[in-house]
Amino acid sequence: MHVDLVIHNAGQLVTCASPSGPKRGPALRDVGLIENGAIAISDGEIVAIGLSRDVRAEYVARQTIDAGGNVVCPGFVGPHTHVAYAGNRIDEFELRVKGATYQDIMAAGGGIVSTMQSVRVATPEQIINETRVRLDQMLALGTTTVEAKSGYGLDTANELKLLGVVEALDQAHAIDLVPTFMGAHAIPPEYRNRGDDYVALVVEQMTPAIAAWYRATHFAARGVPLFADVFCERNAFDVEQSRRVLAAAKSHGMRIKAHVDEFSAMGGVAMALGLDACSVDHLDVTGSEDMRRIAQSDTIAVIIPAVTVNLGGTHFADARGLIDAGAALALTTDINPGSAPCPSLPLVMAIACRYQHLAPAEALNAVTINAAHAIGLGQHAGSLEAGKQADVLIVDAPDYRHLAYQFGANLVRTVVKRGRVLRGRVIHE
Ligand code: NIG
Ligand code: FE
Repeated sequence: MHVDLVIHNAGQLVTCASPSGPKRGPALRDVGLIENGAIAISDGEIVAIGLSRDVRAEYVARQTIDAGGNVVCPGFVGPHTHVAYAGNRIDEFELRVKGATYQDIMAAGGGIVSTMQSVRVATPEQIINETRVRLDQMLALGTTTVEAKSGYGLDTANELKLLGVVEALDQAHAIDLVPTFMGAHAIPPEYRNRGDDYVALVVEQMTPAIAAWYRATHFAARGVPLFADVFCERNAFDVEQSRRVLAAAKSHGMRIKAHVDEFSAMGGVAMALGLDACSVDHLDVTGSEDMRRIAQSDTIAVIIPAVTVNLGGTHFADARGLIDAGAALALTTDINPGSAPCPSLPLVMAIACRYQHLAPAEALNAVTINAAHAIGLGQHAGSLEAGKQADVLIVDAPDYRHLAYQFGANLVRTVVKRGRVLRGRVIHE
């Protein structure tokens, strides 16, 4: 049979396959490894996976790549990012280095609101150009799909502007983007001390406008979901406000995510689970009862150790406890200008292994199949299985554990996105 591409001679073909949904418990330690594997690809999709000699015997390829005995694995998925923004917060970084905390800066009117100011004055083209640089870095580091939140516009027009940027980049860039509306990311200065009025604006004006925007996008046409998210935190949105925001979003057909328990445990987990959230994110200070609740739900726990490192913290989310309780865990960079200016999922894996005691296999499943489920794309991305989109990496190492073991270097040699070879050597036969 003729196919577009065969990648063969993978010393380890790491599938992360999990046909029955996200991985939990002991399954998280299984990366679905095939030694001496190969993968056949046509029309952007995976046609077959198996032993190199079987795949080569059965398929005649237009292009062939010899992986040279190295690792071949799924493209990484970033299930929580704020990648679309303008400007930077270098000055705040220096203040934090000198001892100010993220919350001090937020309470003084900096933080998210500072980036809001940069975004409001920027044109869509400026934001696209700045964001494209970050997406290029992420792609080079192996990320082939990301969720991207709004949340730096904080009024209807600017939230729509940011989501328009996300749609434009999804069309222009090789990385697939999944949109999230996060109007309730911070209270903008014009609503200072009037949080409930801002929530009313989000619920009554922004949410229907964004739902109408989505219906006309190519995301809706292609079945890519629209998510809604909220920052449930002191000096942001309390549990009741968060519930109002997310319930309104849900009634407009959006799927639900929530930033909960990043600095304060306020009851956000129970609120989000009550709305059948697709994921609950951060969970740095979540208690054991809420961890058990998450484990018993279908909601994915998204853990963000890059924020802890970037804020100079030493208390990491209890990822081990979540896995051991039975939760489906995913990892993300959270790339954003404040709490995590970090494009690298391999670095996040490296941190999670060292500080949260994840096995390298658990970390890899957490940035592939489970991350895809955290953004509603578990049927299409995040693992190497026949019928899924062909998002494939060739790694410059013979053992997948190098991805977490080495850090600071980029081991991703070749990125294949929907069957297209974007970097690396191709041998024509
Ligand atoms: O996930 N916590 C709230 N939102 C982001 C930070 C965004 C920013 O600082 O610009 C986060 O950490
Ligand atoms: Fe975030």
